[in-house]
Amino acid sequence: MLGPVLLAASRSDRMRRIVAAAPITRPVVNRFVAGDELHPAMDNVRELTASGLEVTLDHLGEDVTDEATAHATRDAYLGLLRALRTEGLGTRAEVSVKLSAFGQALPDGGHDIALENVREVAELATAIGTTVTLDMEDHTTVDSTLGILAELRKEHPDTGAVIQSYLFRTEDDARKLAVAGSRVRLVKGAYKEPASVAFQSKAEVDKAYVRVLKILMAGDGYPMVGSHDPRMIAIAQELAARYDRKPGSYEFQMLYGIRTAEQRRLAHDGERMRIYVPYGADWYGYFMRRLAERPANLAFFLRSFLPS
Ligand code: FDA
Repeated sequence: MLGPVLLAASRSDRMRRIVAAAPITRPVVNRFVAGDELHPAMDNVRELTASGLEVTLDHLGEDVTDEATAHATRDAYLGLLRALRTEGLGTRAEVSVKLSAFGQALPDGGHDIALENVREVAELATAIGTTVTLDMEDHTTVDSTLGILAELRKEHPDTGAVIQSYLFRTEDDARKLAVAGSRVRLVKGAYKEPASVAFQSKAEVDKAYVRVLKILMAGDGYPMVGSHDPRMIAIAQELAARYDRKPGSYEFQMLYGIRTAEQRRLAHDGERMRIYVPYGADWYGYFMRRLAERPANLAFFLRSFLPS
């Protein structure tokens, strides 16, 4: 019951102000967000990569409502990529982008504005030997995001995308995307979606995840298994064996701060393991989605308000 309430709150400006102003919020946020600025986040990235993990960095931000902010997002990613080049991390670190932060939802030409902004990011990523993955947001953005993916892949074929097993359409999308050179991250989905477009129960979302995973593992693309769920991880390993995929022809991905021992275990066992590392001041929406996923996180957050 709490999940949908928290997901609704994740889009409320009033709640954003209340949560961000609470002095004890910060230590809880730090569990999921690697820093307010790029440079403290890079310390965490160095530590992760030194321990055998790979990363995808997300400069936090979404739902921008003016073109200047969309350009600022692009510039932040260009700065991030230059920092990765300086650190020599181009082969172990890539970037994840939310197109709503690049202007996708702007009423006048948002799709094209987002495409032009993200194209510059993809160009620099290619130049430094790394890749861009397009995160997936709510269902109203899927056609536009897959359209931008197709455009980018013409010049940057290793641009990746995310598909969400909770959406009814995803099996079809997976079939189209399971082609040579195509990088696809499969996740369950983190937004509040109506019953007209998405499965509502965890059991149905999990079953759909397995069906889509089969399509991706059997296909010619590069599956990226984005989940912390031990059952999904075990099934992914079984499918990889069934389709004769060696580690490195697929990868696991988890979020920064979640199941860190399991992240290290998989890497230690020879799997390719990538950590999604978000950083930046605009952490509210991301943070609220993490609370919504797991009531225990909310309890942890609320306990921090109690006197110690
Ligand atoms: P599930 O929610 O069933 O959780 C399984 C287990 O994992 C839990 O029992 C718990 O142990 C642990 N766990 C899961 N979430 C936790 C949390 N928040 N805190 C602590 N423990 C937790 N979504 C989206 O819509 N668009 C996107 O682009 C992305 N991108 C993305 C990238 C990567 C690398 C990951 C791992 C996930 C995303 N997601 C996403 C989020 C995704 O849709 C989903 O909401 C979460 O991954 C939770 O689903 P699980 O598959 O982990 O399983």
